[in-house]
Amino acid sequence: MVGGPRVSVATPRVIETTVGTSPVTVVIGRGVLGEVAARWDAVSPGTSALVVHDANVTRVAGDVAALLDHRGTRAVRVDVPPGEPSKCFAQLERITRAAAEAGVRRSDAVVAVGGGVVGDLAGFVAAAYQRGVALVQVPTSLLAMVDSSIGGKTAIDLPEGKNYVGAIWQPRLVVMDLDVLDTLPDRELSCGFAEVVKYGLLESTDLFERVAAWPALPGDPVALADLVADCVAHKLRVVTQDERESGLRASLNLGHTVGHGIEAAGEYSRYNHGEAISLGLLAALRISERMCGLDPAWRTRTADVLRAHGLPTSLGDGIATEDVLRAMGRDKKADAHALNMVLLHAPGKVVLRQDPPHDMVVAAIEELRA
Ligand code: GLY
Repeated sequence: MVGGPRVSVATPRVIETTVGTSPVTVVIGRGVLGEVAARWDAVSPGTSALVVHDANVTRVAGDVAALLDHRGTRAVRVDVPPGEPSKCFAQLERITRAAAEAGVRRSDAVVAVGGGVVGDLAGFVAAAYQRGVALVQVPTSLLAMVDSSIGGKTAIDLPEGKNYVGAIWQPRLVVMDLDVLDTLPDRELSCGFAEVVKYGLLESTDLFERVAAWPALPGDPVALADLVADCVAHKLRVVTQDERESGLRASLNLGHTVGHGIEAAGEYSRYNHGEAISLGLLAALRISERMCGLDPAWRTRTADVLRAHGLPTSLGDGIATEDVLRAMGRDKKADAHALNMVLLHAPGKVVLRQDPPHDMVVAAIEELRA
């Protein structure tokens, strides 16, 4: 695509593009943490780096900090308790005050080392601290690699809602070291794979077939670098065209409308994000069959691949359809609001629809119980 991301074919895979006015480089491969220091001159002219990391990935953060110290960039480390509650004002205050106390300046940079929570939180620190400093993402989960570290969405939560306070702030550099996936629990790997399946459906029959044929995770390292790179390239192609989600970017929410409803109805503990998206994808495909004529074979095959990677394909007891609808804003009180859904005619043929008939949405959720 003219003007789209430039994607290398060798490992490590390197993708370069510009989102808005921000140049973004993504490096994907095994043993590539050194790229953070090697590419630092393109990130920041400053003398310090604020390394914000999940307390569960202390070793990776230590390696990144040591590499930066070694090149003469002072690394200031701040750890964050694992889990969604860390996306809060208290952590935002703690981290920004630690940065100020350590003398981190406008010309310096924030390095986020962790999964989606740290990426969102540290990304928002970068967007807000001294009105914005450069950001580097070092995602340590498959979910963060293929999705949340790319595209510049940063946020913290309010009691009133997830991601209610945030900013779009593009990372200058994203370094994905696939070695870190070796210690990721199986459930976390599967969670990220739900987003990979999403990209297969969004991109093309070819990518879907590769995803459908994927062996046990993580799989061959070169093939995995290629797969992650193809997901990232898809997302960057979309985000470069619609950074602020005024249209096309919403397609990345395939499976997320019902998925978010299920995640919230399960009080964010019954299903993790990827598991809820697994169910949300199947509901979106069912609605696609009825509204867009999608061949039902795609839903059968999608369920097969999700199940093969340990993801749920049927909704468990104790999650009431009305709770899912309420969380989606589709209870009776909310009926006046549009429901945006991403649907498919076929893999790679995406359509955004508002307000699918209420009974069709209810039926798609109910059929998840079969
Ligand atoms: N996760 C969807 C997006 O970044 O737009």
